[in-house]
Amino acid sequence: MEGQYSDKVMEHFRNPRNVGEIADADGIGNVGNPVCGDIMRLYIKVDPKDEIITDAKFKTFGCGAAIATSSMVTELVKGKTIEEALKISNHAVAEALGGLPKIKMHCSVLAEQALVGAINDYLKKHGKPPIAKNFKDEHEA
Ligand code: FES
Repeated sequence: MEGQYSDKVMEHFRNPRNVGEIADADGIGNVGNPVCGDIMRLYIKVDPKDEIITDAKFKTFGCGAAIATSSMVTELVKGKTIEEALKISNHAVAEALGGLPKIKMHCSVLAEQALVGAINDYLKKHGKPPIAKNFKDEHEA
């Protein structure tokens, strides 16, 4: 299986960035994939002045691709506005990792869902309506 993964996926799996929790997080996204049972929790810190995501951390109980995509999504969102972060698709996360095997694309969907969950949690806390986003569940396992 290892041979199917890009060097970047393996590197983020072995040395994931931003693992942990943010105690005073402004938004938390909790998601799980009912098919494989993997779960992901993503924390964001948002500057309310300009709605820029200043920090992001994650805790993932899942496969190597779930850990690598969690790591990458936390790297991608830092410094972005909420609006910009919402444009990050699972494909963008997978691409930033040098691609994922087809049967592992659903792991990147989990990362996208966790991000949107965290942003919606932030919006809810600020009395704003949540964002509805269509996720393509590409689970093929
Ligand atoms: Fe479930 Fe990767 S196998 S997220």
